[in-house]
Amino acid sequence: MSIAQITDVDRADVDETTPTAHRGIEALRAWVDQIAALTEPADIVWCNGSRAESDRLTKQLVAEGKLIRLNPEWRPNSFLARTDPSDVARVEARTFICTTFEEDAGPTNNWVAPEEMRTELDGVFAGSMRGRTMYVVPFSMGPVGGRLSQLGVQLTDSEYAVLSMGVMTRMGDRVLDLIAAGESWVATVHSVGAPLAPGDEDVAWPCNETKYIVQFPETREVWSYGSGYGGNAILAKKCFALRIASAMGREEGWLAEHMLLIKLTDPQGRSFHIAAAFPSACGKTNLAMLRPSLPGWSVETIGDDIAWLRPGDDGRLWAINPEAGFFGVAPGTGESTNVTAVETLWGNTIFTNVALRDDGDVWWEGLTDTPPAHLIDWEGRDWTPTSGRPAAHPNSRFTVAAAQCPQMADDWQAPDGVPIDAILFGGRRATNVPLVVEATDWRHGVFIGATISSEKTAAAEGTVGELRRDPFAMLPFCGYNMADHWAHWLSIGEKLRFDRAPRMFQVNWFRKGPDGEFLWPGFSENARVLEWIAGRVSGDVAAEESSIGRLPLLEDLDVEGLDLADGALERLFAVDPASWSDEADLTEEFFAQFGGRLPAALSTELAALRYRLATT
Ligand code: GTP
Ligand code: SPV
Ligand code: MN
Repeated sequence: MSIAQITDVDRADVDETTPTAHRGIEALRAWVDQIAALTEPADIVWCNGSRAESDRLTKQLVAEGKLIRLNPEWRPNSFLARTDPSDVARVEARTFICTTFEEDAGPTNNWVAPEEMRTELDGVFAGSMRGRTMYVVPFSMGPVGGRLSQLGVQLTDSEYAVLSMGVMTRMGDRVLDLIAAGESWVATVHSVGAPLAPGDEDVAWPCNETKYIVQFPETREVWSYGSGYGGNAILAKKCFALRIASAMGREEGWLAEHMLLIKLTDPQGRSFHIAAAFPSACGKTNLAMLRPSLPGWSVETIGDDIAWLRPGDDGRLWAINPEAGFFGVAPGTGESTNVTAVETLWGNTIFTNVALRDDGDVWWEGLTDTPPAHLIDWEGRDWTPTSGRPAAHPNSRFTVAAAQCPQMADDWQAPDGVPIDAILFGGRRATNVPLVVEATDWRHGVFIGATISSEKTAAAEGTVGELRRDPFAMLPFCGYNMADHWAHWLSIGEKLRFDRAPRMFQVNWFRKGPDGEFLWPGFSENARVLEWIAGRVSGDVAAEESSIGRLPLLEDLDVEGLDLADGALERLFAVDPASWSDEADLTEEFFAQFGGRLPAALSTELAALRYRLATT
């Protein structure tokens, strides 16, 4: 059975309104059979999402040497996975958006024509699950049955992926019930690409040198091959909830974004819901779990990586976190930076590529100030503090249920979501970008989002530290033409009531001084920036117009008790017209690749920025 044929079959039995969706249980059964015929697994298991099921899987993986059970005294029901050293991050060069027309994928995505890719995948997936079990994983993104929620099914030959999906999504029988009731679902197929012949010995982390992370937004399908890791294998996450969902949202009038969600409450008891888009490994989880250093303020967590946002009938923008867990960066997570995460990880956690302590617990750089005298590093080698290499991989991660986080907001699973008061855009910028600046209006905010650049991190393959454009923190995750994404943002703004639309801000925790040190202490001290943002939303605090937007009056930013370097505050807010002018030139170059698809409003914003830089 070829993939091309499968699609023809599916096209035939879907309804008119969502012409390409998979719908209902019969279609699901037929599709499972078709994929099984293609990939030839030894077994098929339908997952019900129960605790007994995950216990069975973890026991099996421990017995097979694919997971290490951590010492239950320190870390009950928790496990360490060590990946193949070549399979440690998302592979952007092997990530494809396959739309009929290349310009629908746009210049920032890798594009291959759907039919060509289907033929290629046909060969790649043929027999790819031989000797392994194929799991059927039905899942809901968002609360099961919620108004903004969407269903999906992942077929996978990776037990690690099944366990991760069980944490990251609402998985199992309740979803099958909805599918049986006729709901549509997004079809996702995953194979590690390591078939076993009879008598073959398996390895601890099966994967394939060749990788494909393929999205077909028009038919709402994902095909992932060759990797077992994170965003490559937990298909509900980046592949579905961002790449496919962003394309769905464009058709249906909503947004799927790489954003955290929090509820901020001030000392008077006023609450603000905030969404923030920062590129991978740029501080979303940390801000989502913030414990404010300012007395009387609180932050409650709603989501740490993905938000789906939709204009409501009331003219406000409503958002949900479609996920049910955190797949968070381990290094840098410690008592002094993110104590909430440390508390969340008390048990029931899968750790990937962190170091193992002699007492059977885990460790990573930044968990404690002083490393243990001896560890087994993420590659299984002996490690001491003099080894001269990190003990945990820089992109090592934890997978844990959101419900385990001690500061989840009471409304984190509200089926209609929460109304957003402010949207933040950020990135890692050693220079130029101030600690915080407010956009003058929605259109200026969209311009700021569209022009984010950030230093690359270990979350994807490539050179760490290199500055690159990452518009809306969605460069690797937008399922359609990025310029159309900006146009979609502009059109969403038009659906909001002008006085109820979220205010927009740019933030940067990562600006450095001449000595190369961060100017701002960050982490819990970021509450001071949130205070200013809340003040702007409630109208309590003034701002100063600058060429790049509205800046705080320095006396309005509470820095009491902070040990800032001499002149740090001025440096954090310095706007150098010459380097911003260079930045504007780079923006023009960046915009040029989108040709006529660039919304005119954004060229107007660029021209206005240049005018202000030249005249103020
Ligand atoms: P993804 O899961 O890849 O999307 O990343 P994320 O945006 O959730 O990033 P996360 O919060 O995990 O932070 C990544 C790294 O940045 C960690 O090593 C943090 O310790 C560090 N970090 C987060 N917030 C701050 C901050 O305010 N200041 C500084 N200096 N570092 C920070
Ligand atoms: C990211 O890279 O932005 C992540 C981790 O959140 S992954 O799920 O691997 O994409
Ligand atoms: Mn992310």
